[in-house]
Amino acid sequence: MPLNRRQFLHSTLALGALSQLPRLSLAASPSADVDYELTVAPADIQLVDAGTTPAWCFNGGYPAPVIRARQHQPIRIRVRNQLAESTTIHWHGLRIPIAMDGVPFLSQAPIPAGGEFLYEFTPPDAGTFWYHPHMNSVEQLGRGLVGAFIVEEAQPVAFDSEQVLGLKNWHVKADGSFDRLSRPRYAARMGTPGQLQTVNGQQHPSYPVPAGGSVRLRFLNLDNTVTYDLTSSVDDARILAVDGNPLAQPVTLERHAMGPGMRLDVGLLAPAAGETVTFYHKGKPLVTLHSEPGEVRHGQIPALPLNPVPAPDLANAETLSFVFEWDAAISPVAKQGEASGPSFWTINRRSWEGMSQGNIPEPLARLKLGQTYIFELENLTQYHHPIHIHGHTFTVLSSDKRAIEPFHTDTVLLGKNEKVLAAFVADNPGRWMYHCHVIEHLKTGLMGYVEVS
Ligand code: C2O
Ligand code: CU
Ligand code: CU
Repeated sequence: MPLNRRQFLHSTLALGALSQLPRLSLAASPSADVDYELTVAPADIQLVDAGTTPAWCFNGGYPAPVIRARQHQPIRIRVRNQLAESTTIHWHGLRIPIAMDGVPFLSQAPIPAGGEFLYEFTPPDAGTFWYHPHMNSVEQLGRGLVGAFIVEEAQPVAFDSEQVLGLKNWHVKADGSFDRLSRPRYAARMGTPGQLQTVNGQQHPSYPVPAGGSVRLRFLNLDNTVTYDLTSSVDDARILAVDGNPLAQPVTLERHAMGPGMRLDVGLLAPAAGETVTFYHKGKPLVTLHSEPGEVRHGQIPALPLNPVPAPDLANAETLSFVFEWDAAISPVAKQGEASGPSFWTINRRSWEGMSQGNIPEPLARLKLGQTYIFELENLTQYHHPIHIHGHTFTVLSSDKRAIEPFHTDTVLLGKNEKVLAAFVADNPGRWMYHCHVIEHLKTGLMGYVEVS
């Protein structure tokens, strides 16, 4: 029996495995006309014992509410902006209409201080996605405005336990106050790393799992900068989905690089009671699961249904090449909006100019609606770049540096000097941002958009 949205949310809340999730905004939602209300405002939070951190939060705390939608069912989210500056909210990885994409000037007017905006859309794909502002991103994301957006499968898949794991390194000092979120010498390189490594806002948390039960872990890289190098203490954890999209054949998690913005669904069977499983970033523990006796109803990892991503028509595809490079000019260029400040990076020798009301630069490319494109993504730099496209899902075809079994993603992690071919059907009309998700890189030039019409 299909549940309506509200019943569904309540039944989700009732699951024991979800009880340690951050509070959903539903309880705080006074009005019946929306599924979620998100209030964006400053809030002091406790990340370290020595003091509070003047963060910017959704609904007054961190982690942000985990939004749970259902595939093919509409969801309505009201965003109230109580910052002293404008914002917008982008739903990263969701193939939804352009008017809901949350990019200031390009898809909507900024939500002014004190204003609100109603986002309403129907997610076509199930999986692990996320949400974040698309304005003044170094600061708005860096101060905490990042949250998980889960789209449940249209036909529920059964695990005994599920855990959302939001990874973020905070730029905070020992007393909890903020350090600088960006330093030019790092922005021009790999980005400025935060010192405090957290999972769901905690340092190396530990979560209970039912012994012998099937566990779904939803890792999300919500960080501005860090590429997590994920390993685990067991040899049978399996990668079920990459960036929200299930793999046709799950693979064993040996070592997996997750750039900013990327996600990973990992399945495993919890060990015997009293035993633990730990996940590491570069050998440093991120999160531990400890097995406790508990109810196990499934005891096996279910297959995830594939998402309805349109198959690229490779025989008739048009190839466009994009070269990601250093910008020769280190001196600051006067720019407006997101890209004000120096330019360090270029796409096809062009550094993003920034946008403002009535001032939208030319697209990087104009794409024909319905046509398949192969993007040849070439990184001519010594740093990683997670290249993200809005409103569409890439099928990654090949790399000149590693063997690739084709998979779907919204964010392609390019290694140093790596060239990757990624195809997609331009089936969603609109002007879609296309950028590196190292936030300081997009802020200093590595951004643009493609226009589909
Ligand atoms: Cu998370 Cu423009 O993206
Ligand atoms: Cu996005
Ligand atoms: Cu980059």
